[in-house]
Order: sequence, then C-alpha cells, then structure tokens
Amino acid sequence: MTRPTTLQSSIGQVTLDSYVMNASGPRCSSAEELHLIGRSNAAAIVTKSCTILPREGNAEPRYRDLELGAIQSMGLPNLGYNAYLDLVPELLEHNKPVVVSISGLSLADNETMVKAFDGSDASLLEVNFSCPNIAGKPQTAYDFEQVENSLTRLCSLTDKPLGIKLAPYFDMSHFDSMAEILNRFPIAFISTINSIGNTLIIDPQTERAVIKPKGGFGGLCGQYVKPIGLANVHAFRQRLRDDIDIVGVGGIYNGTDAFEYALAGASAVQVATSFQQQGEGCFQRINDELAALLEAKGYASIKEVIGQLKAF
Ligand code: SIN
Repeated sequence: MTRPTTLQSSIGQVTLDSYVMNASGPRCSSAEELHLIGRSNAAAIVTKSCTILPREGNAEPRYRDLELGAIQSMGLPNLGYNAYLDLVPELLEHNKPVVVSISGLSLADNETMVKAFDGSDASLLEVNFSCPNIAGKPQTAYDFEQVENSLTRLCSLTDKPLGIKLAPYFDMSHFDSMAEILNRFPIAFISTINSIGNTLIIDPQTERAVIKPKGGFGGLCGQYVKPIGLANVHAFRQRLRDDIDIVGVGGIYNGTDAFEYALAGASAVQVATSFQQQGEGCFQRINDELAALLEAKGYASIKEVIGQLKAF
C-alpha cells in the first residue's frame, strides 16, 4: 500500500511508513484482528498485551462508549504469549513492523516473555507497565522502584528495541523522577499514555456504574484524555535522552490530533478508542488528514514537526 512519504517516521530505528498505528488495546487480540490491521494503512501491527497463559479478560459489561470516548476494564483478554510467538512470522508478511506488547502478571512472567520474543523476529517489544484493570495488581508505572528493578532485568534479556507503556502522570516531580530512571536504561521508546485508570462513570437511571469489573472502576479513554496524553508526551520529550523515542497515545481521532502529538514530541501515535469505534479505516483517514494538514502548512515531512511545539 502506498503511503505519503511525508509521514515516514521511526521508533527505535525501525522505519514506519506512516505515522499512525493501533494501540495495544481493542481489536488486536486474535489472528484475524491482527491480519486486518496488517492489511490496513496502520504503520505497524501492535498485538494485544500478552500474558503467559491465555485470558478471557474481565466480566461483562466491561466496555462502554461515552460522549467523548469510552470507559473500559477489559482485563487483558489475549491468546497467551505462545500464540503471538507463532503469529509473528505471518504478521511480518504484511511488510510492516510487528510490535509485541507484553504484560506479565509478575516480573518473572515479563522475563520469560521478553526472552521468548527476543528469539523471534518481532520488530519492537513494548512492555506494558500500566494496565489498570487487573484486580489486586497495582500499575507498575506508579511504583518507581519496581520500574527500575524491572528495567534492570528486562534490558539485560534482549537486544531488540524495547519500550515501556507508561501510565499518565500528573505531577511535575513524577515526570522528573521517572525520566531520571528511564534515562539510565538502554530503552528505545516509551508509549504514553495508557488509559486513566480507576475512573468511575455512573448511570443515574440504573444507579449503577456502567461497567462491572473492579466495582465499576475502569480506564477512561478517548477525547477526555487527549490533554493529559499531550502533556505526558511533551513533559517526557523535554526530559528523556534524544535516542528514546516517544509514541503518543490518547484521544487521537483525526489528523489534527496527530499533528498536535507530533508538536508535543511524539515520533508516532497509537489509536485505540477511534479504532474501536470506527474500525481499521481510521488509520488511512487519520494519516490522510495529517498529510493534508502538513501540506497545507508547508511542511515536507512529519519529521520537521516532531517536538517543535513553540514557546511563548
Ligand atoms: C485491558 O485489557 O484491560 C486494557 C489494556 C491496558 O490497559 O493496558
């Protein structure tokens, strides 16, 4: 599929033919869903975060569309890592990078999976430190010591470009502390943000939360979270080593959203809620809108925009 060269970018020195890929979120668990992404205009194929064993995920109802996005508590429904190991070769036949997302329920699980995928042809590994939807398992991204311990182990296990998916941070001191840790490790990228965990949406008619797992607490997604995603990308771009790329995630529905993420410092973006709501056509549409916007503004390439947010 021909893509506008203006949108070529890279993550961890892996070339991307366009700027927009799926997030490790909806519609990327099964082989069929992953091949659909492969055939679409997405820049890469990102798998659902895998665990050692297959998981059905949390009890239904676990997803609800909202006026400006969605709330979900999926609970990592996935095929188990061995299935994704088997799928990597056929997914690579789509001629785009394959990003394997890993979300072990313990450090030992993550070690097992990073080692296993190190021996595969996966293009990039994204370790998910931020799923808010597993009852009893705190988000690693909020435990700075655990992030440091985990990276010490995981970085020693692979030469592949390894990145981590972070939770949203809200205090400048947390950006400072996390960036200081990340800059000490040979990671290739971060993906930021995951959904805003443990939010609550109440239906006044039923007088219940709109989702069931974890007593109704779930991850808020979509347009609600875009300002937080932009802030996290920008704050980390100002603090991380230049060779750590940033993948922006959170509320990207159109080319303008993607452009704003580029200004904030994202080398590529991932879409979740718009993909869930609109299907795989969203990749072509957002890429096309972004290319048109770049052209209208006189930019020859997305690379001219990345990290160029103007100061007052
Ligand atoms: C989920 O499956 O619960 C969402 C994925 C994530 O938050 O990382």
